Amino acid sequence: MALWGGRFQAGSSELFKAFNDSLPFDHILVQQDIQGSIGWSKAIQQAGVLTLEEQQKLEQALIDLSAKVANGDLDITASSAEDVHSWVEAELTEVLGDIARKLHTGRSRNDQVATDLRLWSREQLDVLIDALNTVQQKLLTLAENNKDHILPGYTHLQRAQPIRFAHWCLAYIEMFKRDSSRLVDTRKRLNQSPLGCGALAGTTYPIDREELAQSLGFDSACVNSLDAVSDRDFVLEILFAASTSMMHLSRFAEDLIFFNSGEANFVTLGDQVTSGSSLMPQKKNPDALELIRGKCGRVFGALQGLLVTLKGLPLAYNKDLQEDKEGLFETVAQWHTCLLMAGEVVSSIELNSAACQKAAREGYANATELADYLVSKGVPFRTAHEISGEVVLYALAQQEPIESLRLEELQQFSPLIEEDVYPILELEYLVDKRNILGGTGIEPVSKIIAEYQHDLGSA
Ligand code: ARG
Repeated sequence: MALWGGRFQAGSSELFKAFNDSLPFDHILVQQDIQGSIGWSKAIQQAGVLTLEEQQKLEQALIDLSAKVANGDLDITASSAEDVHSWVEAELTEVLGDIARKLHTGRSRNDQVATDLRLWSREQLDVLIDALNTVQQKLLTLAENNKDHILPGYTHLQRAQPIRFAHWCLAYIEMFKRDSSRLVDTRKRLNQSPLGCGALAGTTYPIDREELAQSLGFDSACVNSLDAVSDRDFVLEILFAASTSMMHLSRFAEDLIFFNSGEANFVTLGDQVTSGSSLMPQKKNPDALELIRGKCGRVFGALQGLLVTLKGLPLAYNKDLQEDKEGLFETVAQWHTCLLMAGEVVSSIELNSAACQKAAREGYANATELADYLVSKGVPFRTAHEISGEVVLYALAQQEPIESLRLEELQQFSPLIEEDVYPILELEYLVDKRNILGGTGIEPVSKIIAEYQHDLGSA
């Protein structure tokens, strides 16, 4: 039965009912609705609406209902209730009769749904922060295990300067760490209670809203009822955090898809996260990573979708706000799965260090070092840059790396070049020379790894 039948003479059309009902998706909020209702029952008992005995009966029935739901004893979506709030009330009424019909005193579904959604989101943030930590831990283990592997670093997808593979891993740890901090931040703003704000103007019953907020684990109560029932900034924030993190996951996926390609062959992804082709027997495709990259579409879409939904809404509650849920639920689920999937991919990675080294050596990545060498012999950098460029051109024509050229060949370009040039052209030398905070040298990389081991532990 609908919660609002009294004023109506005719029933809803079938199409309207299916269009309007949110139970098919908001049933996800059932435990939060029960939790909020227990809090509300205590608040209205203190306000004199319920006797202590009535409140206790209600609380017990709500606890029983929560257990049944948790056990999977009830098929919520089979009900014809309009939404999760009506469903909980209908279940309670079946057990308690009239007492259950008192529970909604002073409350509106508008403050109720806003509360439920905040409670649900708060729980999800903890789950997501956990998943972000796990990916970081796995990347850290990969970094530790492959500290000495060097591969080309790219700009413009052209080999630029060699880097440690561990440095690449640490770059993504930084991104996931920021993603996590965004959620910590969101949690602070989200953790305020709309309950007791009524439909839009506040409730007439003497509810201690601060105490109610605390009892539900909120830091405080929202102080403006119009805002509290219609604010969905916290949903936007989660969608933005998800979009940013999915963008990071997508770049991570893109890098690895390239590293795993036949052309680069820097890494091999495990069989457990790749799939074959139905036609071409030799193929081993990076599907897990491609799906991570592909799922950005719907996550970014959910953020854009809700922004547009909220844009023109007058205060306070409007049914448009019901459109906040499916995108949020879907986004959180997809983001979470992508984080777990990324973790599995990371654990499956094997490095092909010979291919990495070869590629790192082949790209004339030591041309900058040659220029710096000339600078150390007193040549102005601009001139040194030009000389080094000429050496590259010559080496290219010989199809040799710079370090394979004989001293006499090098001296054609500058007599200042001597035997001591060769060690500085070595790969390890040029990587480890970047021995500065943030650099790819072994010292800064080891230091950051140690710091993360302390902060994250490894997985
Ligand atoms: N299903 C609704 C939603 O998600 C619950 C609030 C309904 N409030 C109302 N006044 N019709 O927004």
